[in-house]
Amino acid sequence: MSYSSIDPNSKSTIPAPIIEPNDPNFQQKFNQESFQFTHQLAGHPLFEIPRLVELANLVVAKGGRQKVHSSDGNVLVHQKWSDMPFKERFEEALAQIDESGSLIVIKSIQLDPEYDALLDRIVSELTMLTGINLHQEITWLEGYIFVSSPQTITPYHLDHESNFLLQIQGEEDVNLFDQRDRSVLTEQEIEHYFVGDLQAATYRQENQNKASVYHLVPGLAVHHPARAPHWLKNGDRTSVALSINFCMRSYDLEARVYQVNHYLRKLGLNPTPPGKSPLQDSLKQAFLGIFSKHKPDNKTDVVFSGIDRLKAPLKNIKL
Ligand SMILES: [Fe+2]
Repeated sequence: MSYSSIDPNSKSTIPAPIIEPNDPNFQQKFNQESFQFTHQLAGHPLFEIPRLVELANLVVAKGGRQKVHSSDGNVLVHQKWSDMPFKERFEEALAQIDESGSLIVIKSIQLDPEYDALLDRIVSELTMLTGINLHQEITWLEGYIFVSSPQTITPYHLDHESNFLLQIQGEEDVNLFDQRDRSVLTEQEIEHYFVGDLQAATYRQENQNKASVYHLVPGLAVHHPARAPHWLKNGDRTSVALSINFCMRSYDLEARVYQVNHYLRKLGLNPTPPGKSPLQDSLKQAFLGIFSKHKPDNKTDVVFSGIDRLKAPLKNIKL
């Protein structure tokens, strides 16, 4: 493994390359199915707890308290994020992570230049590996660091974003479900998600045997396709994982189709899912495009600004 510093002022070096594409079908599987690969960030100093405390304080100072999610991680797989008691004092929860029973998510890590450079490097490598110019296709990029106490659970949910999850420290089981399987994830759940119910995906025990389970150890990583439902269970040690999340133009457009479909279904229709009729898709996308912010300020704007602007007058119609 070689090391190179990408920022002359950086206090730490970044391995080159970071991602090792040991799956020969990396490009074909991207955003279609989950897959495992290896990376070179295990044990990197940017992920040591004192450095993460410094990072958490910086993102809160620059972006506000909501940039660090800190909650009790003693929940069950079928529960929702809203069931997880919030911990106001994230500094203590993080500094004592081995014992605090916490699940902490440091968001927008790119607010710190060292992590921003790291993300930029990873996106460049992913552009090569996926064959897609992600610097152009990505509409919103965000790096998260998940720090979780032993035995904690991240409940079942889906995300609009495409994701690469790199295990840095500790071990965890990542349960990933096929986003294309409608016996796992229904059209209605996806539509509800895209009109603002971020907890719309419902865990069904009878579907657990359909999960692909990845046992991540330091140096291993897994790709989550956009909208692939997932839940995670930490091992016996504190887990630290880097999550590269991004919205892509093509999936933002599909989200608009689901948003329109939600209201068509409320009108008693049986709407056509995205991908089945290019004409219908483009009409729905163009319609919501009229309302969408053309210069989004955040990820919520990217996905929801069109439907949110439309929802206000629709509330009076009582659909
Ligand atoms: Fe997630």
